Amino acid sequence: MYVWPCAVVLAQYLWFHRRSLPGKALLEIGAGVSLPGVVAAKCGAEVILSDSCELPHCLEVCRQSCRLNSLPQVRVVGLTWGHLSQDLLALPPQDIILASDVFFEPEDFEDILTTVYFLMQKNPKVQLWSTYQVRSADWSLEALLYKWDMKCIHIPLASFDADRDDIADSALPGRHTIEMLVISFAKDRL
Ligand SMILES: C[S@@+](CC[C@H](N)C(=O)[O-])C[C@H]1O[C@@H](n2cnc3c(N)ncnc32)[C@H](O)[C@@H]1O
Repeated sequence: MYVWPCAVVLAQYLWFHRRSLPGKALLEIGAGVSLPGVVAAKCGAEVILSDSCELPHCLEVCRQSCRLNSLPQVRVVGLTWGHLSQDLLALPPQDIILASDVFFEPEDFEDILTTVYFLMQKNPKVQLWSTYQVRSADWSLEALLYKWDMKCIHIPLASFDADRDDIADSALPGRHTIEMLVISFAKDRL
């Protein structure tokens, strides 16, 4: 399994905000190799990693990342986007949801936002921090965000030193066009 360029950019965003992370409850979805979750855990966040229940090898990759990075306290749970599973129901309220390169199949977008919406019911102030690789100009989240009562802020990569071809000795971002989004509940009362 690979570390995707999006993961390096999201890890850089976490590193940039590292002083705000200790004690924060943080869930990574579609975690795979889990670079952002590992960086957050190393910075003191209480991290839970997740990947699809239907992809046990991906969950094993999450566990392996914890072992290799000496993070026995990090839990790994199976969470399939859009499924209301026991593991999702049992999660404690989260402060931040991490999602690196999960918006790649438009048919999954609504399932991802459904899972996020469920977690917003537990904590309306939860934020989704997500990196997204621009693969098609036709794909847009705007209509779905409106439907699910969410708003989105685009964070310029330059604002967290990620506007470079290489970050933290990784050449991965390279020539990919990556965007950093912060998605939250749009309710006026917040
Ligand atoms: C492109 S990879 C990104 C992995 C990792 N976040 C990164 O950036 O390195 C997409 C990830 O989403 C997971 N995934 C795919 N479909 C899923 C689903 N329906 N529910 C939960 N996770 C899913 C895959 O197993 C994989 O780990």
